[in-house]
Amino acid sequence: MMKTTTTTNNTTAIDKEITQTTTTSYLNNDRIDELIPIPKRTDISCLSLTDQLISEYPSTCSFKNVFNSNSNINTSIIPRSSGALTDFNSLSKMMINNNNNNITAKPQLINHKRIASYVFAFDIDGVLVRGPNTLNEGVEAIKYLEGNNPYNIKVPYIFVTNGGGKHESLRAEDLSNRLETKIVEEQIIQGHTPMKELSNEYDNVLVIGGVGDNVKKIAKSYGFKNVFTSTDIMRWNPSVTPYYELTEDDLKHCINDEVYDFSKIKIDAILVFADSRNWAADQQIILELLMSDNGYMGTISKDNFNNGPSIYFAHSDFVWSTNYNLVRYGMGALQVSIAALYKEHTGKEMKVIRFGKPQKATFEYANKVMKCWRKNVLDNHFEEMSSINNDDKDDSMTDIFSNNGSEYKYANNNTNTNTSMSESDEDDFNDNDNDNEGESHNSLTFEGLKRMKLNPIVEKVLPPPSTVYFVGDTPESDIRFANSHDESWFSILVNTGVYQKGTEPKYKPKHHCENVLEAVKFAVEREHAKECEEWNRDSMF
Ligand code: G3P
Ligand code: MG
Repeated sequence: MMKTTTTTNNTTAIDKEITQTTTTSYLNNDRIDELIPIPKRTDISCLSLTDQLISEYPSTCSFKNVFNSNSNINTSIIPRSSGALTDFNSLSKMMINNNNNNITAKPQLINHKRIASYVFAFDIDGVLVRGPNTLNEGVEAIKYLEGNNPYNIKVPYIFVTNGGGKHESLRAEDLSNRLETKIVEEQIIQGHTPMKELSNEYDNVLVIGGVGDNVKKIAKSYGFKNVFTSTDIMRWNPSVTPYYELTEDDLKHCINDEVYDFSKIKIDAILVFADSRNWAADQQIILELLMSDNGYMGTISKDNFNNGPSIYFAHSDFVWSTNYNLVRYGMGALQVSIAALYKEHTGKEMKVIRFGKPQKATFEYANKVMKCWRKNVLDNHFEEMSSINNDDKDDSMTDIFSNNGSEYKYANNNTNTNTSMSESDEDDFNDNDNDNEGESHNSLTFEGLKRMKLNPIVEKVLPPPSTVYFVGDTPESDIRFANSHDESWFSILVNTGVYQKGTEPKYKPKHHCENVLEAVKFAVEREHAKECEEWNRDSMF
């Protein structure tokens, strides 16, 4: 019997060969583990964003407009931030105003209404939901970040999921219902979301995955011009997939579409947007195109398989967590299988461009989204605070965050704000605004966020987040994502998904919790301690 494992030093040649073969990965060849994360900045304040702004611009702010009546902080004593915003040498004196008795003390609890300097980013599957089941801790965790916590702090949060197959607006609607709060599409990054930035690069794309023609609609909404699916190709020539016959259900999604001749259409790129519902057919078509001559169906490359279309995957999760007790194969498994077949057939490695966690492109996209979202939360906060005090007719706060009279409607409320775009936003977001069919530009879309301009002061001073807490269940994608790019990200692993409690995670989190609620409480308390420490350090008694 052939020995197949190596347990001693007496390794045979066969053992070595087998060991080598079994350690080859079709997924981990992006060299992500070699990245050196950006070092954590030491000059970012942990004071809340609101306190930082107010301390920097006291003459233009009416403090009484900003703090609610439950606050136990006398608003004339906010310390100046010690971080990036500090231009002042002297610090304010701080006193605690407790039931009108002035007591000089260092606060152990900061609980005036404010917006955190830190941010949360959540993985979705295995953290907040498991398939159709919503985790109660997820609902509670979101409430906690919305301000329902002992510190009265509101923490901006976004979602970075490798999932997809639904438009971001639908995902937001679904999450809103499940997490019992208002979530908008501008908070959501799915595996395929950053691919919208490719929409001008390719004329004809084949999109793979998802239910019905959802991914076709999503790709069109991203601005892709000519979008085709496997079903379109099977309609053109059913012999392409000899073991699969299109059903009426398949056909009903493209009944009004033209039957295209794919021997004459050059497919420029294959975009795997979501999990394939038909691996056999999708693999057959993808492999044929990868090995084709310039992306025409029915042809074989005349250039040693170097002139097929590019292939993109929205993520590479090998397994994922649903409501079954064991993990299920994901898009990464499809990728492995296609890469193995491609190698077997051509002798070459398949070149893949990957999005999703832990990829850099998704990390950079997440930072852009986070920046926009923090501005939005901050702006809403000041609007809310000034409307609470509108009887005072003191406009100094709203002077800073004025809307120049131009009306702009938020998707989640009816607050007005300025809509013109600042120069730095232009730099950050010089992609195209797509006037998609049916899309209302009255709502605060991602493009809307790009156009949104807070007052230049806010624009200038909004510091980077002091910490980004990322909560995930999959060490290989989530923890690796949070650990690889920027040291100001803080990874938290939870036990509610892919990771199996008691095992050694391949990528070590900075913190480990039972569930997302525990993770949120841990982080908010950790940040509150830092905030108190900075407040006390920078205040003079
Ligand atoms: O297919 C979805 C899955 O692979 C992961 O989703 O939210 O855990 O990143 P999520
Ligand atoms: Mg997950």
